[in-house]
Amino acid sequence: MMTTRAFNPNIPEAIRAVAADGTQLRYALMELSQQFPDAIALGRGDPDLACPPHIIAAAKQALRDHPNEVSPVAGLSALRAAIAEKLRRENGIPAQVENVIVTTGGQEGLFLIMQALLDPGDEVLVPDPRYTSYDEAIESAGGRMVMIPTDHADAFNLRPEAVEAAITPRAKALLIVTPSNPTGGIVTEERLRQIAEIAIRHNLIVISDEIYEQFVYDGWRHFSIGSLPGMAERTITLNGFSKTYAMTGLRVGYVCAPANVIDALTRVKALTTGPAAAVSQRAALAALTGSQEPVREFLRIYDERRRVLMAGLRELVLDYSEPRGAFFLWTNSSSVGIHATELSYLLLKEGRVLIFPGTGFGENWGGYLRISVLQSTDLLREALERMRSVVERYRLK
Ligand SMILES: Cc1ncc(COP(=O)(O)O)c(C=O)c1O
Repeated sequence: MMTTRAFNPNIPEAIRAVAADGTQLRYALMELSQQFPDAIALGRGDPDLACPPHIIAAAKQALRDHPNEVSPVAGLSALRAAIAEKLRRENGIPAQVENVIVTTGGQEGLFLIMQALLDPGDEVLVPDPRYTSYDEAIESAGGRMVMIPTDHADAFNLRPEAVEAAITPRAKALLIVTPSNPTGGIVTEERLRQIAEIAIRHNLIVISDEIYEQFVYDGWRHFSIGSLPGMAERTITLNGFSKTYAMTGLRVGYVCAPANVIDALTRVKALTTGPAAAVSQRAALAALTGSQEPVREFLRIYDERRRVLMAGLRELVLDYSEPRGAFFLWTNSSSVGIHATELSYLLLKEGRVLIFPGTGFGENWGGYLRISVLQSTDLLREALERMRSVVERYRLK
């Protein structure tokens, strides 16, 4: 997309070899960044802020009191009940305990959903650009991904017409992610209502990834499609604790779905990883039942950082899509005139900043970078200065 120079032959083989595979490309860049210990990492999406102390304390206590506890495969019933209650109260989804499974991170939830849902050849509609683990989860179950284009001009909101245009007779499910990784876009309530009508009309299952739901800015609101009339029975909601409570390493996610779908996921989980670690589940229970003030503080901090980055990118004359949610600025780098994969490499090697190229999120996005807000404002300012030197050196005059 909008590349004006040939792909640089000096890009290391490790990057070149995986340039067409979003997930592998991101991992290869992270690996390469180990060679530059002074690099500022604005790559991956795991919160840098400290997990709140009461959650850590709950994990420690669980380790002391029940060091070897093994949970039921679908999760501790107290945690499933607390999740169901949260989904009813905050999301308006009519969930009961039997509608919830606790997973080893949202990542496992994603794979369990596809394994349980898809028959070979079934299609899943996915917005592009995307978190490319969707590709692998779908492919690993023998499914086929069909991309739904989204646009910068529309702040990467999902267009109901584009959803409808992507539907084929083999379409089984529609995947929605709001707020979005990598774009920071949200799917507005108005659009979700229209999309729900389409899903009902075409008998589609909706998979709604809401892992960034707490991080929404500028008065925008998160809305859960599973709360709409006629949708609870066809919606699979994916969420987790990694982002909301900065507890990525404890690996707790969850899926909410009709009870027969939860049973199917539980059977697959029993055969593979078994239950999520009980210690982590007890920490997650403390997270849900304890004070939510730390989450509000995280939101305030991310918002402040987001503003620092937006101002810095404007100074660099780099256009970004309005980030309405999540942790990322989806930045149009095509004005630099270098393919984003190469630009990411130069930013790392010459600027000591790790930023993922748009191609880490779909092959069409060689004119974009995904910059995350997961560093202090001081480091973000320093990273912007480092970016300036590289962008000014290479920008086409
Ligand atoms: C959109 C999206 N969904 C799901 C996940 C999975 O997160 P986790 O496995 O930490 O819960 C991620 C992680 O980056 C994500 O960005």
